[in-house]
Amino acid sequence: MTDRLTIPRPDDMHLHLRDGAMLAGVLPETARHFGRAIIMPNLVPPVVTMAGAQAYRARIMAALPKDADFTPLMTLYLTEGTDAADVAAAHAAGVIHAVKLYPAGATTNSHGGVRDVTRVLPVLEKMAEIGLPLCIHNEVTDPEVDIFDREAVFIDTVLDPLRRRLPSLRVVMEHITTSQGVDYARTGGDNLAATITTHHLIINRNHILSGGIKPHYYCLPVAKRESHRLALRQAATSGEARFFLGTDSAPHIDALKEHSCGCAGCFTATNTMPLLAHVFEELDALDRLAGFTSRFGAAFYRLPVSEKTLILSKSDTATIWPEKLDTGAGPVTIFNPGFPVFWQVTP
Ligand code: DOR
Ligand code: ZN
Repeated sequence: MTDRLTIPRPDDMHLHLRDGAMLAGVLPETARHFGRAIIMPNLVPPVVTMAGAQAYRARIMAALPKDADFTPLMTLYLTEGTDAADVAAAHAAGVIHAVKLYPAGATTNSHGGVRDVTRVLPVLEKMAEIGLPLCIHNEVTDPEVDIFDREAVFIDTVLDPLRRRLPSLRVVMEHITTSQGVDYARTGGDNLAATITTHHLIINRNHILSGGIKPHYYCLPVAKRESHRLALRQAATSGEARFFLGTDSAPHIDALKEHSCGCAGCFTATNTMPLLAHVFEELDALDRLAGFTSRFGAAFYRLPVSEKTLILSKSDTATIWPEKLDTGAGPVTIFNPGFPVFWQVTP
């Protein structure tokens, strides 16, 4: 039985750090275990220009604990007014590593996103030319479409037509939640990848809705039925380089989660690595954890695998995390998997 695992220092290829007091509170949680992260740009107001990304990067660097070993990989929030030349300049200067497409209205702070993909084609064509990845939130926003079908419908009606039109565009399907997402990711070649979150490997929709409503399990895309969770677990542990970790750790203060109109997001930065070790061990795939967390994402983003390491160890006593992280913005509930976890990161 393996009870100790040494892996290259992991990367979180989809992370929300927010700003101000929340940034200061949550950043150490990620920087403790992860060497790099793709930083989501859905601030208020969003990060839409190279100058905005540089300024946000500087705020993240200023908030880092002194001894931290962490590099934020910045992104831009795509709008129908995005300037292709600014995107290309930001990429050429090494300021950004991706552009994020939020369908307008799909999720937190996405109202400034894209209503009609054809209106951003000039930017996407430039990105295809320079090899800059597009990270996509794969959900339609049509109120007529059932919320549990929004990912599958997006794939058929938006993503697939876009990729047929621009096959050289490098695309990351963010936080896939369905077997259709898994299957579609597998139809692509080197230009297509998909991130999978920690929480979607652990919860299905019953966790949110059965036995009382559990706002801390509500995120977007919303967790689906069990068969989809099983497809995600199979994909994450398959050893296929197209699937890699993007936690989508998305902090909201408890007052806004435990609310009549609660915000979407699970906060997993604190305990993601032990939770993943638990899941991979359950599926007899501990030897594939390093690919998922530390190699495949780096390869897609054309970055070297970290030369640093992270050690995970398993003990006889369950690892205890605090229920909440106290941030200057207010308390944030840490994702509770609902079962004991015996893995921990060795300091
Ligand atoms: O659950 C989510 N929270 N999904 C997203 O797409 C956005 C995120 C957030 O920013 O809170
Ligand atoms: Zn996200």
